[in-house]
Amino acid sequence: MTPLINDTFLRAVLREPVDYTPVWMMRQAGRYLPEYRATRAKAGSFMDLCKNPELACEVTLQPLERFPLDAAILFSDILTVPDAMGLGLYFAEGEGPHFERPVRTQADVERIAVPDPELELGYVMEAVAVIRNALAGRVPLIGFSGSPWTLATYMVEGGGAKNFSHVKGMMFDRPDLLHALLAKTADAVTAYLNAQIARGAQATMIFDTWGGALAPANYREFSLAYMQRVVAGLTREAEGRTVPVILFTKNGGQWLHHMADTGCDGLGVDWTTDLADARRLVGDRVSLQGNLDPCALYASPERIREEVARVLASYGKGPGHVFNLGHGITPDVNPEHAGAMVAAVHELSRPYHV
Ligand code: CP3
Repeated sequence: MTPLINDTFLRAVLREPVDYTPVWMMRQAGRYLPEYRATRAKAGSFMDLCKNPELACEVTLQPLERFPLDAAILFSDILTVPDAMGLGLYFAEGEGPHFERPVRTQADVERIAVPDPELELGYVMEAVAVIRNALAGRVPLIGFSGSPWTLATYMVEGGGAKNFSHVKGMMFDRPDLLHALLAKTADAVTAYLNAQIARGAQATMIFDTWGGALAPANYREFSLAYMQRVVAGLTREAEGRTVPVILFTKNGGQWLHHMADTGCDGLGVDWTTDLADARRLVGDRVSLQGNLDPCALYASPERIREEVARVLASYGKGPGHVFNLGHGITPDVNPEHAGAMVAAVHELSRPYHV
């Protein structure tokens, strides 16, 4: 494999010294870019795009052509795993994801098989290999998965949810059933991430979008415990380097210290937690990734620069900060504003690393 030219992101996640704070954006390949919309139109549906490794590679690289980002993230979706479990994923235009066959009963849970990533998810593995080759060592490639709990919410609800009536109903009435589903899902996620690493992913991130909807004790039992199980099963070295893993529980700011106990390398932080407070909670055990409010990108480039300065100052001096948005970039953001953010991070972060 080609040697890595810019390894700033990998070093920062591992709390090693860097010259500046590296930056990437959640959903950096997406609808705010006209070139993404053009490739997406060429592909057909969103899932057609995910299932076409050449086009998935094309959109993965688009944001890197525009901005000097320090990492690429695989273009795919967290819901490919439940789709491969036979649930029948589809995206209704403007409505988000749905499953034809949600998981509601004991028979449904028993029927679910852990997919072989090289078979049922071969298109994702192919995309990882194609992207890794096209990157030619420019920046590292991040692989990802949903957390077991977040995947289970979509699987049990049959799509996005407002009240989590089905999955929380199962949690309170049939915790045994939910645990059986989470155990299978955790095994599927572990195999899926390890296959991505085998194909060239140089770091991984676990998206726990809905962990923050749980009460603290339920969070530890139904979300955190299964992320810990995944972390424990991951390949942590490849091509002679550490393959770091980042956990991100949206709205999980009060549990960062518990998350650090899983043995992960980095934690994603959304904008509702100050990075100085986050740093006090976790000490020097893990790096922190975040956390500009994505809505700051609606402001002028001058204001964006001030907000970037504020986030950099809240983390303060020393290694262990990866700059990112606190959640995915929104589709109606002006791409030039994203560029202003990236430039401001690179320019304003140098004094924090002398
Ligand atoms: O960050 C990246 O650039 C990598 C690609 C990526 C996508 N989804 C592409 C995508 C990643 C890492 C995800 C993760 C994902 N998917 C999460 C976890 C992160 C989060 O946002 O909390 C979740 C919950 C999903 C499930 C999902 N996929 C939803 C709810 C939707 C619809 C949302 C919407 O904005 O319409 C998707 C679709 C999706 N995934 C799009 C993209 C670029 C938009 C699809 C399109 O082109 O229409």
